[in-house]
Amino acid sequence: AVTTPLVVAIDGPSGSGKSSTARGVAQKLGLAFLDTGAMYRAATWLVLHSDVEAGDTDAVAALVGSADIAIALDPARPTISINGTDVTEAIREPVVSAAVSAVATNLAVRADLVARQQSIIGSAAQGIVAEGRDITTVVAPEAPVRVLLVADPQARVARRQAELGERVTSSEVTDQVIRRDRDDSTVAQFTEAADGVVVVDSTHLTLSEVIDRIADLAPTSRPTV
Ligand code: DC
Repeated sequence: AVTTPLVVAIDGPSGSGKSSTARGVAQKLGLAFLDTGAMYRAATWLVLHSDVEAGDTDAVAALVGSADIAIALDPARPTISINGTDVTEAIREPVVSAAVSAVATNLAVRADLVARQQSIIGSAAQGIVAEGRDITTVVAPEAPVRVLLVADPQARVARRQAELGERVTSSEVTDQVIRRDRDDSTVAQFTEAADGVVVVDSTHLTLSEVIDRIADLAPTSRPTV
């Protein structure tokens, strides 16, 4: 008998600590790691480095649809390339953060990236932790562990500021966190947990407490097929 690989799905708003948490859970459980936001960011980077206008939904979908996106699933070293260019660092720049909602709200782009994410998750033989906004509901609604990670807005803004440091002003950070959540929530419903999704509030927890809490939700033995 072969056990089915474990899939852990984690959704949440900006600054909830999703990425660090998901990486930590993957490392603790020996699973692969998929940051789906990095795929939307890479698509946005490509649009910004092309002649296509971000508002031209058909042209954006065609550009992203024909792009080669290569994402490394090692939680210790998650890198991403698009059409052969390593954009791991570039996708974290404020110019990408400011433009990403326009690309992430393009429904044809979403359909394309969701299909790619499902194929990555389906072929992760050792199991995978996937994080984003629609993983528990759209990408992997059948995942045995599904978590909505939440935190108070003040805590989320403070964390993003700590991550970005001197590069951005506090009003830019507030815009990135609060405005982006509002824009993003028009296409993905991640403010309330869907049926069967466990809510973890990280406001008053350390990163390792959040990681432990989610890792503890993983079944100790996997069903066999
Ligand atoms: O988590 P993040 O900040 O890196 O996500 C970048 C953007 O991509 C953010 O605006 C939300 C969007 N996103 C999404 O719409 N669906 C996902 N599964 C992941 C990210």
